Amino acid sequence: MRVCEGAVEIEVPEARDGASAGRGDGVFYNPEQELNRDVTVAVLRAYRERAGLEAGGIETNGDDTDGDGTSDETPTYLDATAASGVRGVRAAAENWAVTLCDRDADATALCRANLAHNDLDGDIRTRDARGLMSAERFDVVDIDPFGTPVPFVDSAVRGTRQLLCVTATDTAPLCGAHRESGIRKYGCVPVNTEFHPEMGLRVLLSALCREAARYDRAARPILSHATRHYVRVYLELVESASAANATLEELGYVHWCPDCLSRTAERGLIAHPPEACANCGHGVKTAGPIYCGAVRDREFTERVRESMTDDMGTEKLARKLLDTIGHELDTPTHYDQHKLAKEWGRSASAMDDFLADLRDAGHEASRTHYGGTTLKTTADVAEIEAATATE
Ligand SMILES: C[S@@+](CC[C@H](N)C(=O)[O-])C[C@H]1O[C@@H](n2cnc3c(N)ncnc32)[C@H](O)[C@@H]1O
Ligand SMILES: [Zn+2]
Repeated sequence: MRVCEGAVEIEVPEARDGASAGRGDGVFYNPEQELNRDVTVAVLRAYRERAGLEAGGIETNGDDTDGDGTSDETPTYLDATAASGVRGVRAAAENWAVTLCDRDADATALCRANLAHNDLDGDIRTRDARGLMSAERFDVVDIDPFGTPVPFVDSAVRGTRQLLCVTATDTAPLCGAHRESGIRKYGCVPVNTEFHPEMGLRVLLSALCREAARYDRAARPILSHATRHYVRVYLELVESASAANATLEELGYVHWCPDCLSRTAERGLIAHPPEACANCGHGVKTAGPIYCGAVRDREFTERVRESMTDDMGTEKLARKLLDTIGHELDTPTHYDQHKLAKEWGRSASAMDDFLADLRDAGHEASRTHYGGTTLKTTADVAEIEAATATE
């Protein structure tokens, strides 16, 4: 079956039994990830500008062979786990020099056909992406595997010059629903809280930053988002041990009370959990080390939003998502108004009114992209309860 995404038309396997994600003859294509791919294309446009990765742009990656201070080469993009090749084909249509890799020969045959169908060039590799990323470097590397990206992370950090894009669909280990699996894979303790998508995102960022730091590289998140089914992060890699130290300083712990939903956060690699919740006296649960810093660069997020175009199927949705992400506060956790209301035996109010009450009481407050009833605020639980109380 043929599908159009952005500027390209690609052949993908027919979904079986009405399933939305199909493996057809063994090659995977998930139409539900179109937003993820549309945002990726917008990121590639915005990042090219940010990093001066234009042929003739500022030299940033050592390819200035004629010594005129500008880059001589078309920037490179590796679609490491390509399946149908939809990401790589879309990147090729954006004038990236693409490599499409999959260990499955049926997948790479489809990649080749999809590039040719769109009159585009690219390098096709039928091999384990980990070997490829250990042997060669690319300006941008995109890891979009089944489930956890962990088996790819070490080689992906080594194989990336500038920007590492990672999808994780193993939300249960990341969010703490499968705690032991989360500990094994991500080297950090996740806790299953009511802000679980953000827990997952910050657990993934923590693991990626620590992995990059092993190679004296800083991994700075410039855009991240979480949906019910997956987490997607974009990390700019910087070659510097001191910058790597600075990213490690963004790691820390969250102490969460399952009884009253109160939480505190601390930076550092040694946890100091309180003996009891300061709000209700109940015992707390500690998660970490999670990434506690900003999960996106505000200006870059705005550039990505502006780079969405109307040939993208999810343009409207993605622009709204990016707008919300751009305006989120940088607190390491969010609240869900409905869960707080239930806790307090109240009925929920309109989100705008709830946020206005918090601001009127002198607190910062924003919506978040984690859900329609979620918010971030500088107020603690007791302050939220007081600020939003109705007579
Ligand atoms: C979730 S699919 C990729 C979907 C695709 N990126 C998209 O946007 O439609 C994961 C792909 O990774 C491939 N894969 C799994 N392990 C791999 C490895 N070690 N090296 C290369 N490819 C691998 C699988 O064959 C599969 O085609
Ligand atoms: Zn409590």
